[in-house]
Amino acid sequence: MTTEIKNYQAPENLLKEQIILVTGAGDGIGAAVAKDFARHGATVILLGRTVRKLEQIYDEIEQAGYPQAAIYPMNLEGACEKDYVELANTLEKEFGRLDGLLHNAGFLGSLTPLEQYDTELWSRVMQTNLNAPFIMNRALMGLLKKSNSASVVFTSSSVGRKGRAYWGAYAISKAACENLMEIMADELEANTHIRVNSIDPGATRTGMRARAYPGEDPAKNPEPGSITKAYLYLMGSDSKGITGQRFNAQ
Ligand SMILES: NC(=O)c1ccc[n+]([C@@H]2O[C@H](COP(=O)([O-])OP(=O)(O)OC[C@H]3O[C@@H](n4cnc5c(N)ncnc54)[C@H](OP(=O)(O)O)[C@@H]3O)[C@@H](O)[C@H]2O)c1
Repeated sequence: MTTEIKNYQAPENLLKEQIILVTGAGDGIGAAVAKDFARHGATVILLGRTVRKLEQIYDEIEQAGYPQAAIYPMNLEGACEKDYVELANTLEKEFGRLDGLLHNAGFLGSLTPLEQYDTELWSRVMQTNLNAPFIMNRALMGLLKKSNSASVVFTSSSVGRKGRAYWGAYAISKAACENLMEIMADELEANTHIRVNSIDPGATRTGMRARAYPGEDPAKNPEPGSITKAYLYLMGSDSKGITGQRFNAQ
């Protein structure tokens, strides 16, 4: 399946008239995937914390002539439940439903042995990587249910699938997201049209990768724009009926 989706050839209009929210859409993988969703016809809601970066992606989408995007600035680390309710209310008013939700924003924290891991940093990583997707899913569930066929995708990591020394809160938050994905998929499978899966993008040339591996030659890893095929597959109708699965983008 992984081989199949990393080479997936998306039809040009795969995401026509789809409303898709991408978190962490201002940079790295989120930015590349958001642009590719738009290129395939989606109206993309660009959610992130740095407005300048979101505006840049918004402009690139507009200049390319893709469907007009929307910007939703939000800091997932500091957001509380009422901010998510406000997000849901805004999307309800503007779009009336949600067809796709990509949980992509991520916070690395630090690579430190657990014995020395700063407890405050631990909470910040968990808030951004685990609690935020959980609360966002809850808040947006009503809108996802209004779609004929909605897709929720969590972003994992190799260290979320097999723990590795020093990856601390980041790895544990990703492992927890895999479990959250499985529980959600299981709960929603019988009574809704919502599928829920996870994707590990694999080593990709982004700011986060450079922070995690400062000594590595960035050219060693593919650019975010070259790993988007699996994301298209999971968001589009060709993955209908597939739920509770773990995928790799590379
Ligand atoms: N790159 C890799 O090799 C790799 C490998 C495995 C998994 N991943 C996962 O892939 C996803 C994307 O990573 P990336 O490499 O593209 O990272 P990135 O270049 O650092 O981009 C992460 C994005 O998330 C946003 N973000 C971070 N904290 C946020 C917050 N509190 N509120 C809102 N937005 C926030 C960032 O916003 P700002 O631009 O404002 O900072 C940025 O746009 C992450 O979930 C990461 O864990 C990446």
